[in-house]
Amino acid sequence: MSHLAFQPAQLGPLTLKNHIVMAPMTRSRALGNVPNELMVEYYHQRASAGLIVTEGTSPSPNGLGYSRIPGLFDKEQVVHWRRVTDAVHAVGGHIFVQLMHAGRIFHPLNLPEGAEGVAPSAVAAAGKMWTDQEQLQEQPEPRALRTEELSRVRDEYVTSAKLGIEAGFDGVELHGANGYLLEQFLNPSSNRRDDEYGGSVKKRARFVLEVAEAVANAIGAERTGIRLSPWGKAGDMPHYPEIDETYAYLAEELQKIGIGYIHVVNHEKLGGAAVPPETINAMRAKFTNTLILSGGFDTVAAVDAALKSGTADLVAIGRPFISNPDLVERLKADKPLAQPDQSTFYVPGAHGYTDYPVMA
Ligand SMILES: Cc1cc2nc3c(=O)[nH]c(=O)nc-3n(C[C@H](O)[C@H](O)[C@H](O)COP(=O)(O)O)c2cc1C
Repeated sequence: MSHLAFQPAQLGPLTLKNHIVMAPMTRSRALGNVPNELMVEYYHQRASAGLIVTEGTSPSPNGLGYSRIPGLFDKEQVVHWRRVTDAVHAVGGHIFVQLMHAGRIFHPLNLPEGAEGVAPSAVAAAGKMWTDQEQLQEQPEPRALRTEELSRVRDEYVTSAKLGIEAGFDGVELHGANGYLLEQFLNPSSNRRDDEYGGSVKKRARFVLEVAEAVANAIGAERTGIRLSPWGKAGDMPHYPEIDETYAYLAEELQKIGIGYIHVVNHEKLGGAAVPPETINAMRAKFTNTLILSGGFDTVAAVDAALKSGTADLVAIGRPFISNPDLVERLKADKPLAQPDQSTFYVPGAHGYTDYPVMA
């Protein structure tokens, strides 16, 4: 066991059993936006990870832009999430919930009654959205949030984070990546505001930092993490001139707040834009708490190399965890990895979800 990947790791107050994080992955099995027994089994099967980050989970009815994603804003959801966290803790795992408000990535057919698509500005995202009722649909224009509403949206994250702790989660990861609500504030293409939350780099970063600070104050900074995707284009996020400046500023301010970790997305191997090493290095220089890197890690050697370089403190792995429930054991045994079936990534039911076998 000389591999750093498999040695215990410290994340704030938590001692993780290894340095491998299961990356957050939407799996669209949460019928009615409530976690269920299938999800309990799925996360229980994958608890050999040092830390699991759940699928994107909405802190608000307005953030449920996709069909069948879970929420964390009412008591029923808390009760059912508790079954998930208990099952993971029972086998020595740790689990954070990823709070994902989808913002303008939505279709009204996916939203519960009374909810609406909201965003920094009334700018529709390019691309289509799946709906169970009418299959693929254009994404409509969201309603721009008024300045005086922003504190309420921030408080939805806070309330949800507190419910997460009540549900037994070890902490909360704010989804600030992949083109969802928080990143929609960062990018000038989706943020055309002329109040204190739009315009300069600092003003565009303001909402993200206010949410991070408020959640950190509510549940503890060491239990608060954030996922960021500098240079990512997912969710119709075109590049803009101040990307590196934005993320260096965020890293510096997030360090001041003292949050437990920044989790950096690199979707190069999913066909997205690469994150230049200079971007990561600039963030690393400003942020001395835990830095998690993710994207394309599928060998122990690659995980070890990232950890030993001093850039990553933990490494997150996504797709291999879908098809290898006992991924950590398999990597330890140096066994070949099963390949995931993309056709079952987002469909309801056990097939392609809980029926991937463990190693023989
Ligand atoms: C099916 C699927 C669902 C995903 N859902 C989310 C999500 O809910 N939140 C998130 O931050 N990233 C999501 N991602 C991105 C992954 O967390 C990860 O960044 C990506 O798969 C690259 O890592 P990998 O090469 O190890 O798979 C998803 C990826 C996949 C394949």
